[in-house]
Amino acid sequence: KAKITEEVLSRTKFYKDFPRPGVSFMDLFSITQDPAYFRKVLDAFKHVIEFEIGRPGEAFNILVGLEARGFVLGPILALEWGLPFAAIRKSGKLPGETVKSSYEKEYGGDVVEIQKGILGPESKVLLIDDLLATGGTLNAAGELVRCCDGAKVAGSACVFEIEGLKGRQKLTMNIASVVMLRD
Ligand code: PRP
Ligand code: MG
Repeated sequence: KAKITEEVLSRTKFYKDFPRPGVSFMDLFSITQDPAYFRKVLDAFKHVIEFEIGRPGEAFNILVGLEARGFVLGPILALEWGLPFAAIRKSGKLPGETVKSSYEKEYGGDVVEIQKGILGPESKVLLIDDLLATGGTLNAAGELVRCCDGAKVAGSACVFEIEGLKGRQKLTMNIASVVMLRD
């Protein structure tokens, strides 16, 4: 894990003060530029998920990606594990009936939603995103899943975790992350 951490940190572009002053932006799309390297990061991601959350198909049976960058990682893992993938989107983007949940972010609030009927009592959900910062987004997604006909949250997974923001301490679920950043 130390080796991949070092490599990811040295090869992922990060931008200071984006999208707002004081925020450091880890650019997931700098990883996807190089297929061999992207493969390596995905393998490390799969490994840490199986270690922290459990076996695909047993500990969890559906992957749910968070808009937008969870849509880059989630479907790839879902296909590789032969599991279904579903999307949690920001408000107003999904057709048909939806279930909604509002949450507070570092700056202001937001609403996320999922289509009705996708999750049920048999669902053990693994939430997928690129980055854990304050934990607001993942917690809102967890709340949303728990509002869906008895679905359960098996855990969550991110490539990056910003340790200094203490999102992990606020999360009401297990989290698997590949790389810890101080701030
Ligand atoms: C970023 C990131 C995570 C979230 C983490 O998404 O991709 O989803 O913030 O922050 P938190 O732990 O403090 O909630 P953002 O909402 O900026 O937009 P995007 O993924 O749609 O680009
Ligand atoms: Mg996001």
